[in-house]
Amino acid sequence: MRVLSGIQPTGRFHWGNYFGAIRQYIALQNEEESYYFIANLHALNTIRDPAVLRELTLEAAIDLLALGLDPEKATLFVQSDVPEVSELCWLLMTGAPMGLLERCHAYKDKKERGLTAEAGLFTYPVLMAADILAYDANIVPVGHDQVQHIEVCRDLAGSFNHQFGEVFVLPKSKVLDDSAKVPGTDGEKMSKSYDNTIGLFEDPKKARKKIMRITTDSRPMAEPKDPQTDHLYQLYSLFADAAQREAMAEKYRAGGFGYGEVKKALANAAEAYFSEARQRREHLVAHPEEVRQVLAAGAKKARKKAGEVLLRAQRACGVATE
Ligand code: ADP
Ligand code: TRP
Repeated sequence: MRVLSGIQPTGRFHWGNYFGAIRQYIALQNEEESYYFIANLHALNTIRDPAVLRELTLEAAIDLLALGLDPEKATLFVQSDVPEVSELCWLLMTGAPMGLLERCHAYKDKKERGLTAEAGLFTYPVLMAADILAYDANIVPVGHDQVQHIEVCRDLAGSFNHQFGEVFVLPKSKVLDDSAKVPGTDGEKMSKSYDNTIGLFEDPKKARKKIMRITTDSRPMAEPKDPQTDHLYQLYSLFADAAQREAMAEKYRAGGFGYGEVKKALANAAEAYFSEARQRREHLVAHPEEVRQVLAAGAKKARKKAGEVLLRAQRACGVATE
């Protein structure tokens, strides 16, 4: 089984990205043949500053490696380093029904808000389909919001196969367990769109300040509280082991403690949790050539596979000369 997923480099990764997605991608590298790429072509829909896009693309690679993505086990590459995908995208585009794409939420939401959309956003799911089909991927781990796009990929692949023969492997989505949404500093879902994130590799002092400013309710300290309904406790739970979680829950239920105490415990636990990754990151930042080497090796392997699939598709639909 081949697992594949892409991550857009549209901002620095935060706790929500890690616990909701990245941690699970990394775990899969031990179970299946896995391909992960940084979706810079998709990000170009939103980031229109070349220096920023370049930097975020490299930072995403550095962060993934620092967090434990192991290039010996998984293939890591940058989307645009595999031009075969863009060619495949065109082949799929010729058979993609407008109605199908009009129903896709990224485009639909923008239209409904009265904004004008670019063709890149409209055809975003077709590029995503090409990303997946180019590597004969079987399983695509994604968040809930991306499941619709995997269905589009299956539709496009199915109708191409129907017209031209069995060219593409139909993938399945594996919905990531983000049921426990990571709350942000305001208690809402952590998201870069809400400006309530805590970055994975933020300056520890800044991160601590943000943690100390996490909103809490204003009930008196003496009152016992239910830990399960408290977002500060939810955050602490991400970093604590079972015994620490229980000890903290007990304090909530007993009452008589301050939220400041929980915030300090959270800041310490988060710092310890990412400290190894932070060290690995520092090494990689000082040696970007190592990162580029990983990406080049990943792209080479990915291009070989994508080239085979592209040729298969080109031959089937009659655009290959041989
Ligand atoms: P953002 O909301 O900050 O723009 P993205 O949409 O780029 O984040 O998310 C990338 C991945 O991280 C998605 O698979 C999503 O499911 C996961 N993710 C993002 N925020 C959270 C969160 N607060 N809790 C759990 N998972 C999250
Ligand atoms: N659209 C995905 C997201 O925003 C990123 C992505 C691009 C992707 N191509 C992909 C995910 C292919 C899985 C497979 O999260």
